Amino acid sequence: MLIRTPEQDIERILFTEKTIAARVEQLGAELTEKLGHERPVLICVLKGASFFYIDLCRSMNCAIDMDFISVASYGASAKSSGVVRLIKDLDNNITGRHIVIVEDIIDSGLTMQYLRQLFSARGPKSITTVSFLDKRSRHPDSFKTDLCGFEIPDEFVVGYGLDYANYYRNLPYIGILKPECYK
Ligand code: IMP
Ligand code: MG
Repeated sequence: MLIRTPEQDIERILFTEKTIAARVEQLGAELTEKLGHERPVLICVLKGASFFYIDLCRSMNCAIDMDFISVASYGASAKSSGVVRLIKDLDNNITGRHIVIVEDIIDSGLTMQYLRQLFSARGPKSITTVSFLDKRSRHPDSFKTDLCGFEIPDEFVVGYGLDYANYYRNLPYIGILKPECYK
């Protein structure tokens, strides 16, 4: 039987493992400089941000707390449903804490907006947002993230945690998915 490998579905690699590692190191250093004395709570938005989150936490040279939230807006589709659903909430209280929301990618900006509102209501001391990727042309400037790994064009990308229908997450690079694989 012929088994199709995930690599066969990739049109082009946008960011290699090496490029990603270097950029994540820089982001970790920036966050350490900004919040290093505050023991920030880094919040991973599951599952897409998981690879980025772990590498980012490892690159921070200061005390942090780790927490995880799970939301969904896509299901098994390459288009947002427009409605964000909370699947798993944080384990810990963030009132009075400096929090960092760690996302994989901002597309319409809806998920980040939802999370900002959700966490604001809990009275954190500050909110910083960091997204590994940002499709800047897809959302208004008001939805801009504080920190971003890379701005990318309006293409559907996978790998380094990002999926299509839960597939491709374990590719070590960011690649553009061939349109025939999701249309
Ligand atoms: P938004 O709410 O439209 O900003 O979408 C954010 C979420 O959609 C991200 O956290 C991803 O899970 C998913 N998403 C958006 N664009 C892509 C993509 O190109 N590849 C994989 N997932 C994506
Ligand atoms: Mg996601």
